Amino acid sequence: MQTDSFRPDALRIGTPLSANATRVMLLGAGELGKEVIIALQRLGVEVIAVDRYANAPGHQVAHRAHVIDMTDAAALRALVEKEQPHLIVPEIEAIATDALADIEAAGVATVIPTARATQLTMNREGIRRLAAEELGLPTSPYAFAQSLDEMKAAIAKIGFPCVVKPVMSSSGKGQSVLRSDADIEPAWNYAMAGGRVNHGRVIVEGFIDFEYEITQLTVRAADPESGETQTYFCDPIGHVQVAGDYVESWQPQPMSPAALEKARDVAAKVTTALGGRGLFGVELFVRGDNVWFSEVSPRPHDTGLVTLATQRFSEFELHARAILGLPVDTALRESGASAVIYGGLDEAGIAFEGVGEALAVPGADLRLFGKPESFVKRRMGVAVATGADIGEALKRAKLAASKVRPVSAK
Ligand SMILES: Nc1ncnc2c1ncn2[C@@H]1O[C@H](COP(=O)(O)OP(=O)(O)OP(=O)(O)O)[C@@H](O)[C@H]1O
Ligand SMILES: [Mg+2]
Repeated sequence: MQTDSFRPDALRIGTPLSANATRVMLLGAGELGKEVIIALQRLGVEVIAVDRYANAPGHQVAHRAHVIDMTDAAALRALVEKEQPHLIVPEIEAIATDALADIEAAGVATVIPTARATQLTMNREGIRRLAAEELGLPTSPYAFAQSLDEMKAAIAKIGFPCVVKPVMSSSGKGQSVLRSDADIEPAWNYAMAGGRVNHGRVIVEGFIDFEYEITQLTVRAADPESGETQTYFCDPIGHVQVAGDYVESWQPQPMSPAALEKARDVAAKVTTALGGRGLFGVELFVRGDNVWFSEVSPRPHDTGLVTLATQRFSEFELHARAILGLPVDTALRESGASAVIYGGLDEAGIAFEGVGEALAVPGADLRLFGKPESFVKRRMGVAVATGADIGEALKRAKLAASKVRPVSAK
């Protein structure tokens, strides 16, 4: 069972691959999971990586790898019973979260951060109602719809421009910005085709004309003095999204003191309501001193890849520490930026050229994720860089990313 009090001095970590091992199971083993696994491995944890396809990035660095359909509750339950992890760490949203709730309730394993948090955040309706209606946080105006007619009624209330999203989707899939009546039917059809499961339900959000958007990484971790769970904040991360996918990010995003205080207040409230331990990515829109809550991931965030270059501990190391009940340090070391490297071609087993040139860029570093199959728009790697300021860091990260050339290996 999840407890809110956890004494770090009472923590023991066993020997991997022995009877007393501390076992952690990652549900989803993509590039973010891979970094969490490496962080756990460094702390002597036995890691089991699970994904829906073979040779996923995290599979390649774990003690054991499994391929299952994680939306299949029976398959998930059977694997947990076989592996007996102490902690279950979801890395993606598309999981049979009801099975996680059963596992947590039966005391079989601790779900990070909590099973309820995974249930609420996998559905835009759950997290939006919690944030806006229960916690009273500022959000865009919104309404839900279950049919084209209901969607028209919702838009009549909210007005143009607005954004339509399937309630169950991520990475911008099925999402449209609507400016006039002519956009309504295409948006409905696109949402129905782009939802993760054909849930037939959408959220209509008023369009927020933000100046910039941030990810406020927020950590719920044990205070080393008291053992009680406390809230810690990283410096804000700014980012650019294109078609629902992040393409570059930087840290620290400059903010007015009032906006920063509001951002942290919103982040503290929503993460406290979700509970448990771990790192969260709170997505916020900012205009002047105004801050709107958009959504939250109860796990490391893709825009936070920049922390591999900027912080004393990356978001992945912070997550690993927090979930184990260890103390965290969210200090920023240097300004930095990240730039995504796309596959650029549809092919399995591609190669990368220009890696040496990329790493010759001052302050730059690279992650190639090792994904077995490339797609034109699949994220295959990321360049990160530090700099005297975020402008210089961003220039370096983009330059390094541009040097890496995915090529056919045929
Ligand atoms: N109401 C809104 N007003 C203005 N822009 C918005 C709104 N909702 C979403 N966006 C833009 O679209 C991006 C993606 O939206 P959102 O985060 O809700 O979708 P997502 O599918 O969960 O994306 P991801 O998985 O990449 O976080 C946001 O980061 C923002 O740039
Ligand atoms: Mg988002």
